Amino acid sequence: MRDNNGKRRFRSQDWFDNPERIDMTALYLERFMNYGITPEELRSGKPIIGIAQSGSDISPCNRIHLELAKRVRDGIRDAGGIPMEFPLHPIFENCRRPTAALDRNLAYLGLVEILHGYPIDAVVLTTGCDKTTPSQLMAAATVDLPAIVLSGGPMLDGWFEAELVGSGAAIWKARRRLAAGEIDNEKFIQIATASAPSAGHCNTMGTASTMNAIAEALGMSLTGCSAIPAPYRERGQMAYETGRRIVEMAREDLRPSSILTREAFLDAIVVNAAIGGSSNAQPHIMAMARHAGVELTSEDWMKYGYDVPLLLNMQPAGKYLGERFHRAGGVPAVMWELEQAGLLRAQRPTVTGRTMAGNLEGRASADREMIRPFADPLKERAGFLVLKGNLFDFAIMKTSVISEAFRARYLSTPGSENRFECRVVVFDGSDDYHHRINDPSLGIDERTMLVIRGAGPLGWPGSAEVVNMQPPDELIRKGIAALPTLGDGRQSGTSDSPSILNASPESAAGGNLALLRTGDIVRVDLNAGRCDVQVPDDELEARRREAPPQVPASQTPWQEIYRATVGQLHTGACLELALPYRGVGHDMP
Ligand code: FES
Ligand code: MG
Repeated sequence: MRDNNGKRRFRSQDWFDNPERIDMTALYLERFMNYGITPEELRSGKPIIGIAQSGSDISPCNRIHLELAKRVRDGIRDAGGIPMEFPLHPIFENCRRPTAALDRNLAYLGLVEILHGYPIDAVVLTTGCDKTTPSQLMAAATVDLPAIVLSGGPMLDGWFEAELVGSGAAIWKARRRLAAGEIDNEKFIQIATASAPSAGHCNTMGTASTMNAIAEALGMSLTGCSAIPAPYRERGQMAYETGRRIVEMAREDLRPSSILTREAFLDAIVVNAAIGGSSNAQPHIMAMARHAGVELTSEDWMKYGYDVPLLLNMQPAGKYLGERFHRAGGVPAVMWELEQAGLLRAQRPTVTGRTMAGNLEGRASADREMIRPFADPLKERAGFLVLKGNLFDFAIMKTSVISEAFRARYLSTPGSENRFECRVVVFDGSDDYHHRINDPSLGIDERTMLVIRGAGPLGWPGSAEVVNMQPPDELIRKGIAALPTLGDGRQSGTSDSPSILNASPESAAGGNLALLRTGDIVRVDLNAGRCDVQVPDDELEARRREAPPQVPASQTPWQEIYRATVGQLHTGACLELALPYRGVGHDMP
């Protein structure tokens, strides 16, 4: 919108500078003055820039943003905008019970309401911990006001006894050593704490670093933003530049709808494979795409992602941690490789005002141990393998974390490569797993597949990170570190388990996982992308009549509301009722 002098008129002026409703303008103006803002500032025609503050004492991964926001404000002021910081619903992955997955959609809803209902012209999204990135990008897509991502950055690398210890990854490894009797409880805690040496989010390529990398790959942050460790001085400088740039974006009216295109999401799928990204990227990318009105299918993951090689040598798929990733050039260096190989659609707009191809110019890495050349990758075909069968319509397997030992035991049988059969042991939720996993009467051996159900969006509720089930202690002591696992829940992005997960429909939604029984035989064929129980259809139908799945009661009002409208993981576990709303930042409340 332009005023009579041809100058851009911002939506905030409908609150603060509306001659037709001077009574309301007076009311809107007066209370902002109580912290020292003058009416002249608010009526100056400058854009009002929201800073969506995700940091707090109960969001420790994002707490650095309380500091960074000062530099964002400096940048906004220097570029001629007016900053207004406001809090988001907190999301802390590790601590929130029953799961932080419930909070992604709640924080999404909250941010949509704030951006729609308050005098904000553009917004800085402060991201970090896993779901803080997709929740805010989903909201930005819904509202479609100019938006830019500022990552908080990973923690510094963790060290313990002269070895790198990475977030989550160190804990999964130490848990196995504890089970094998190699370390005691005290040492377990020491390892865990050593992996968190500073402010910032997980320093592995878990879900946090993955989703921040994806935000950058989509074109929603300044170039090189996502990998800068939280305590580095470049992080504060990036905060300042981000503040400056969002003011220009407000003036240009550069909105998410011109950046979050199908091309951008296909590139995100490619980048996710090349960095060995988290299995949680699948539901989060689907959710962001759907809120942006972009159609992505299960086939897109195979067609565009599966053949992409692993280029980044970062835990859990590789060796190193976030500091080295940043020094090696971060996301632009990985994308540079992919672009040279012709795998990207880089002639697309980004928040920088240049195309992605423009952003990537001159970004080749000098550290070939950390970021491998496309022609000499760490692994071929490192994308998610999409599976289906008579137990579910959709599930994924993160192939970049298949270990040599796992491959040798299950996937290398001559004449039957990438195919195996297992007897299953079925657990109903994670309490059941923890109570019974060491029960010798279950007869778990190296040809057993562990199955968990009741862990999807409806069943848990929220969907739980539980599919990376550890074998019984007895097997670990014999050197079996991982069994095949399958479930309708998720797993931590820092896990190195090649589970079959995110199975949809989940058991609580009528999926056939509910019909599986301990002792059944499941056949997995990775070549054909199939996973089937060797039980005839009529027998499965008889079981369906016998025992409908039990779903635990909701504990809070939000759990009930969430369950009433949430979809399945393969389509992003979105609030289905929210999807028709797009561009609501432009409908004046
Ligand atoms: Fe918050 Fe990993 S737990 S980033
Ligand atoms: Mg997680």
